[in-house]
Amino acid sequence: MNIARNVVGRMQRQCRTGGCSLWHARGMSAVAGAELSNLPQRLEELALPTKRRIEEAKALHPAFYTDASYAQTERERIFGMNWFAAAHVQELSSPGDVRVIEVGKTSIILTRDKNHKLHAFYNSCRHRGARVCSTGATGCKQLVCPYHWWAYRLDGSLKSTPPTAMPKERKEELGLIRVPGLETFAGMIFLNQTPNPPPLRDALGDLPEKLTRYDLDDMQLFKQKKYDIAGDWKLIAENFVDFYHIDAVHPELSRFSRVDDHQPYQGGGQYVGFVTSPLTDCGGPGDKINFNSFPRLRAIESNSALFFHIFPNVSVTIYPHSVYTLLTLPSGAHGRTQEQLTLLMSPEARKNDTSQDEYHERCDALMKFVVNINDEDVDAIENLQQGLSNLEGQGMHGEFIPKYDWPVHRFQNMVLSGLHGHALNEDNMPKLANAFEQKVLSG
Ligand code: FES
Ligand SMILES: [Fe+2]
Repeated sequence: MNIARNVVGRMQRQCRTGGCSLWHARGMSAVAGAELSNLPQRLEELALPTKRRIEEAKALHPAFYTDASYAQTERERIFGMNWFAAAHVQELSSPGDVRVIEVGKTSIILTRDKNHKLHAFYNSCRHRGARVCSTGATGCKQLVCPYHWWAYRLDGSLKSTPPTAMPKERKEELGLIRVPGLETFAGMIFLNQTPNPPPLRDALGDLPEKLTRYDLDDMQLFKQKKYDIAGDWKLIAENFVDFYHIDAVHPELSRFSRVDDHQPYQGGGQYVGFVTSPLTDCGGPGDKINFNSFPRLRAIESNSALFFHIFPNVSVTIYPHSVYTLLTLPSGAHGRTQEQLTLLMSPEARKNDTSQDEYHERCDALMKFVVNINDEDVDAIENLQQGLSNLEGQGMHGEFIPKYDWPVHRFQNMVLSGLHGHALNEDNMPKLANAFEQKVLSG
């Protein structure tokens, strides 16, 4: 291996690896144009109470969070058939940047090639299937499989099969297998594993319009924190949209972000949205006085915090000056989730009278603030997972209070629709008062 490193190191800088997974090949064939079978009868029946209108509905049964065989089906369907968030564009800002993400047992390589184009490939070599990349890297010129040194360009094409030469026509057939869908939205990379997927915009509904004055494509990534959570990925999404827990779980936050200040900001689309407006300054790091707002916001937007969970796996909190996201991917290990918290600042956020050092300190304080809140949430989520595991064999469903739990009900219904390859049926969702939207529209 040392010899390999030296030889290849002399040739060019590159990325290298270990391991092997061909799960994606099976996953894709299971999805591509296949008839979707029902879930096991027991689960189909357990899902029925959640599909009712919220006034009569019950929360998703604990089995949906604890049953290992269901979890595998869910990963293949939810993450195999829907657009999902994979990374921030800023994580691959330069040519030669490479990232590896794991979605359940499927490993995917993200690259930015020398022409600045983004790509996503299954992390399996076309020779014998070895895992090509084990970690992300920067400044890569090529991806070299560690098993026999097949080398791929960052656009996925097969470059060389040392020490032997392969006919050009043959090499052209043996590039890395591409994930069929890759689009960007709000500064994030979304993937879709369905052959010829519909445009991402079809899933987002009116969300792009709601974000039109926020310059999310130009955000500057400040810091990230990674979590390995002993909880199902759905609980993390549900916790984000559950503002009802603020008093109990976040005593400090509750002093200025009151439960009843949260209003719907919901239109049609595969997302859950709400808002707090007006924002209450509290002498904390997120106060408006510390940063400039996005320059094009309407007055009401520059005094509001927006919260969107984009189905299935990314939660986005939008302050007038910054954004933080929680991007989750289910682990290969059942009941565990990898979460990445990212704080991004508006490129205009630094005030003229603030030095670079002061600005950095203010961003650091904001990062600490959101990390503290998230640490509290992680404890709550892990506790919830344990409680649901206690109930696995019972017939008990949780309850909904419509005023507070409409976002959880909406998310759970997106999961149930997504399992059958459908978008959410908006007709079954409550008609929500949307006073904030009216104020935004009236300018
Ligand atoms: S398996 Fe990758 S080069 Fe042989
Ligand atoms: Fe929380």
